[in-house]
Parts: sequence; C-alpha cells; structure tokens
Amino acid sequence: PQFSIEEQTELLPYDKAWEFPRCRLTLGVQLGSGCFGRVVKGEAIGIKGSRETVRTVAVKMVRSQTNVAAMESLVSELKILIHLGSHLNVVNLLGACTKKITKGELLIIVEYCRFGNLQTYLMKHRNSFINLLDEFGNMKPDSETEELQPSILPDISSVDKNSIADNENPAPSPFYSTSDTEAPEWWNYGHQQERDTSQNKTISTHDLISWSFQIARGMEYLASKKVLHGDLAARNVLLADDGVVKVADFGMAKKMYYEGNYERTEGLMPVKWMAIESLTARIFSSQSDVWSFGVLLWELFTLGEVPYPGMDVGHLLIKEIKSGYRMEKPENAPNFFGVIMANCWKTEPKERPTFRQLEEMINSHMESSV
Ligand code: ADE
Repeated sequence: PQFSIEEQTELLPYDKAWEFPRCRLTLGVQLGSGCFGRVVKGEAIGIKGSRETVRTVAVKMVRSQTNVAAMESLVSELKILIHLGSHLNVVNLLGACTKKITKGELLIIVEYCRFGNLQTYLMKHRNSFINLLDEFGNMKPDSETEELQPSILPDISSVDKNSIADNENPAPSPFYSTSDTEAPEWWNYGHQQERDTSQNKTISTHDLISWSFQIARGMEYLASKKVLHGDLAARNVLLADDGVVKVADFGMAKKMYYEGNYERTEGLMPVKWMAIESLTARIFSSQSDVWSFGVLLWELFTLGEVPYPGMDVGHLLIKEIKSGYRMEKPENAPNFFGVIMANCWKTEPKERPTFRQLEEMINSHMESSV
C-alpha cells in the first residue's frame, strides 16, 4: 500500500510506557519559542533515571491548543522521539503527558541542556574566542598553544548542575516568531553568580571541532534510524554539561519509509540552511541534512553569524546558489573544514559526504592535530 508521509507518521505507535503523571511535573520559565510551540523549564519528580528525586527537564508544548497544525507537528515530534531511542548527541525523550490530548494538552518532556542553544552561546562568547590556527589556517602544534588553551571541555566543576539556565534569551530565529512572554525579572534573582561563571568561559578552535564532531555523530545516529531532521542549524543544537552538544528540535523531522527522499510543501522554511534540491524541487533526504550541516559548520566557525551575510532570503539567494555561488571558508575555520563545507554544498546530493564519513573525517582530523 502507498501511504503519504503524514499517514506514515500516523502509523508510528505511541508507547504508554512513556506516559508521565502530570501531577509530578511543575512548569517554570520559558526557554524558547517558535512559530508553533514553546519550551519551558520544568521539574519532574521521579522521571526516567532519577528515581524519586527532582530532575530539571525541558517541556515542549504548543503555543495555541486550537492550532491543529501545531498539535500535529508536536504529535509527530513525539513519535519521532519515541522511534529514535537514545543517543548522547541527541536531546532525548524523558516522558510525555498525553492524557488530555483531546483537549489539546500535550507535553513532551526532554533532557534539559543548561547552556541553551549553540547559536546564542557562540555569540555570547565571541569576544573571548581563542584561535588555535596559524596564519595559514592550520592548527598550531600543541606546544605553542598550551598556555592559551583553556581546555577542550568547559569547566563546570564550580557550578551547581541544576542551576538556572544561562539561556533565558533565545536567539532571534530567522523565521520563527520570538515575541512571547519573557521570563519575569525576578526569576534569576540570586543566581547572578552562576550565569557569570558561564559567561567567563572561553571557547577555542578545539571546542568548535569537538562540537562539529559530536553533531556529526548525532546526525549519523538519526540517519541510521532513517530519520531526516529537516531543520539542522546552530539554533537547534543545545549545549549540555561537560561540553556535550545535542541535536534538538524534531518538529520538522520525518521518518523516511521508502527510498529516503520526500517532498514537503508546508509554508515556513529555513531557506539559508536548505539544500539546493530542497529549494528548487522540495526534495529532502539525509543528504539535504548534510548540506545544512555544512551551513552549521559555517555558523560554528564564524561564532554564530547569520549565513550569507547581507543577502536577503528570497529568489536572489536561490538564483545565486543555482548559479554556483557558495559561502567562503570562515577565517577561523581550519582549511580542512573549508574543504568539508565545500563538499557538503555539492549540487549533486550523492557527491556529498554522508554523516558517517563526516564523523570519520573529523575524528581523524582531531587525532592528527591534537
Ligand atoms: N531550549 C529549548 N530546548 C531546550 C532544552 N532541552 N534545554 C535547554 N534549553 C532549551
């Protein structure tokens, strides 16, 4: 039988084992918001892996319970998360409150990532960036950088792991609405110290490479589960403790059943992250996620700049890309990553590296330069 993609997502079952009692969940400050949904901080008693103790979580919900498209997107995200299973470099599902789903109350509970999204984090730490490249774009030998190098992983030893988020100001998204209720002013009262600690952290070329590797791993896991992300960008990657990054936001994700390509027709699209075949023929695949990964690398090594600076989203950008225009290697990116970006942006999807190859390439580069 032939089913449409939407019908196929419907067929993914909901496993009651994920149900979490609503009375054990309290909701807190808003962490982020998109055009359909919002994410708030929460506390869950006795959720997955925490026995009877309180665990800080992130809770995803729709903005308006009467918005059918928004509800469908959230239900589809839950099904994708259940199908995915868990991986270190993916924001994992912890539970869901679905009991009042007919009244439109659906809450998806996922891991809380204390440092928020990478795009905002990169921008905030731009001024303390430690560049470990020589003038030719190659990694300096370790001996020359020892005094400079803070550490590959952020130092979190002095910080309470359940402390207040560093990310109460989500990045302005290129196409999502950001106007919504902000955190009340008193919310972070008394927690200034913790935020300052994280603000003082430095990031170096090593961190950027480590993050790119971890994102490739998370995406390789997705691809192995035949899940297409559809919105891979720095704003959708979250930074957790110990320098771990996690791919998040499966609102646009799809389970691929047949040949691994599918057509999408909905309205809002992250144009600057989209592959050429997605822009021209609305074709999406893991190989179009690879193109987005290339744009994400560009975001990493520019420390959170908006791609295609100075170019408006629209016909002109698409025309330029069709005629072969691509972004240059950012100044702070090792030459090696310039080559990777160019390969991710090959016109022919089959000629781009796979996530498995990207993971391997970045790994061997890390081994040879550390
Ligand atoms: N913002 C959106 N999702 C989040 C999460 N899981 N943890 C922290 N901040 C977030």
